[in-house]
Amino acid sequence: MLPLQSTGIDGLDEMLGGGFPAGSIVAVLGSFGTGKTTMSLQYVLKGLSSGEKCIYISLEEDERSILKNAMTYGWDLQRYIDSSSLSIIKLEPSDARSAIERVRSEFPSFIKNFGAGRIVIDSVSLLTMLYEDANERRAVLFNLCKLIRQTGAGAMLTSEVNENHPSSSRDGMVEYTVDGVIYLQSIESRDGSEQQLTLRIVKMRGIGHSRRIRPYSISREGIIVHSGSEVF
Ligand SMILES: Nc1ncnc2c1ncn2[C@@H]1O[C@H](COP(=O)(O)OP(=O)(O)OP(=O)(O)O)[C@@H](O)[C@H]1O
Ligand SMILES: [Mg+2]
Repeated sequence: MLPLQSTGIDGLDEMLGGGFPAGSIVAVLGSFGTGKTTMSLQYVLKGLSSGEKCIYISLEEDERSILKNAMTYGWDLQRYIDSSSLSIIKLEPSDARSAIERVRSEFPSFIKNFGAGRIVIDSVSLLTMLYEDANERRAVLFNLCKLIRQTGAGAMLTSEVNENHPSSSRDGMVEYTVDGVIYLQSIESRDGSEQQLTLRIVKMRGIGHSRRIRPYSISREGIIVHSGSEVF
């Protein structure tokens, strides 16, 4: 069996039996505000604090805003940038042509040479949306995953959901390409008075894992999955 890599998220590791199988590419699917970015930051922080190098590719926030956001949880990422353990890359979705060019020309050697233990793409939906053609989207996703697999790094790809089928990703492809899928959802209590955040592991190649739907919370310490609790 592959060694397990702690996700950095309490409760999720328990549901997985220890963590993600090393080298897994995992998609985190969820609607807006469900904590995808927070989870990906926590995943990276766990890697950094274990001495791994990490690449964080963002299509939403720039480096400053990511550092500020992380700081609200008390996570100091700046020192890892200063020690060259962390590289944050901002791709500008509004400038699709230059973003596509960077993905094509700059990424392969950068990802291969950086020596990352963990890679995040936040969000892969915005990345694939740079491409107009469905075949091109499929190809870029496939090639990125292939590139990441060649390096042996673990990866977390956050993904928006399809508003008509909220348990599917927006592009409808990422869940087939990756090794694992975690689905974050905000559900309403029966009387409609409360929202609860819930997490399920939909897929994780290579290990047996819990299939229970578990509540999680986002607090000042980040995301905690209540792996021993039931939803409403
Ligand atoms: N410092 C904090 N302490 C507690 N909760 C926070 C903190 N920062 C954010 N949150 C909660 O986390 C939620 C947002 O999390 P996050 O940005 O990770 O979601 P997301 O899924 O990435 O959203 P989007 O799809 O809009 O990018 C906020 O709506 C808020 O409820
Ligand atoms: Mg986000």
